[in-house]
Amino acid sequence: MRERLSHICAALHSARVFADIGCDHGYCTQYMLRHGLCERAYLSDISAGSLKKAESLLAEYIAEGRCIPVVADGLQGIPEPCDLVLIAGMGGEEIVRILGPYPLPEKFVLQPMKNAEKVRRFLLARGGRIECDLTFSEGDRKMKFYDLICGCGAGGDGYTDMEFRYGRDNLRGGSSAFCAMLRTERDKLAERAARPDMNEKARAGLLEKLREIEGILHEIETDL
Ligand SMILES: C[S@@+](CC[C@H](N)C(=O)[O-])C[C@H]1O[C@@H](n2cnc3c(N)ncnc32)[C@H](O)[C@@H]1O
Repeated sequence: MRERLSHICAALHSARVFADIGCDHGYCTQYMLRHGLCERAYLSDISAGSLKKAESLLAEYIAEGRCIPVVADGLQGIPEPCDLVLIAGMGGEEIVRILGPYPLPEKFVLQPMKNAEKVRRFLLARGGRIECDLTFSEGDRKMKFYDLICGCGAGGDGYTDMEFRYGRDNLRGGSSAFCAMLRTERDKLAERAARPDMNEKARAGLLEKLREIEGILHEIETDL
């Protein structure tokens, strides 16, 4: 299993009814069922072609009635409340759009590919609580970085502006993946800010962001 999916699966936990929205290959649902973590699971994907992959991977569970495939946009095809909802591998705006029309799920595991801040802001505005909010990495030489946001539909507390932007556990714990992501971002910003064709206003914006990142790294490094 790919490293990204292993991180996501490690955040999954037992549930009565599980839904994997945008399941594609269905590996995360396979993990839930194989480990006896749910009574039944809904596999949902907007693309019938993508869902086919999951249907063949999970054919046995589907035959047993423990896994129900649906072609649908987001949660639309799920006929009952699910106590654990996974949405991984989509943009943050799409995740917000999918969750928007419904009360927040009892528990959620979200892995936005971008716009994690929008997801955090949406969840907290809806009264949700984020219990795990961190960056993880995949690969050694050419690292990729992903955000993982898990929590429950009620009991939220306030986030600071920086926590919305960077993730609370990242700022509190400073994992090696988060620090590596910051260093990568810092280097990219420095390179862009040094371009001679850059207009001064844009350069000032880049340098401000660069200083912010250096400040976070400094705090983490002095806390170690
Ligand atoms: C990049 S794949 C991610 C698959 C898997 N969740 C993962 O993390 O590896 C995104 C999947 O989401 C599906 N998708 C995109 N928008 C969707 C929506 N609104 N509702 C359901 N599925 C959607 C796509 O068809 C695709 O199979």
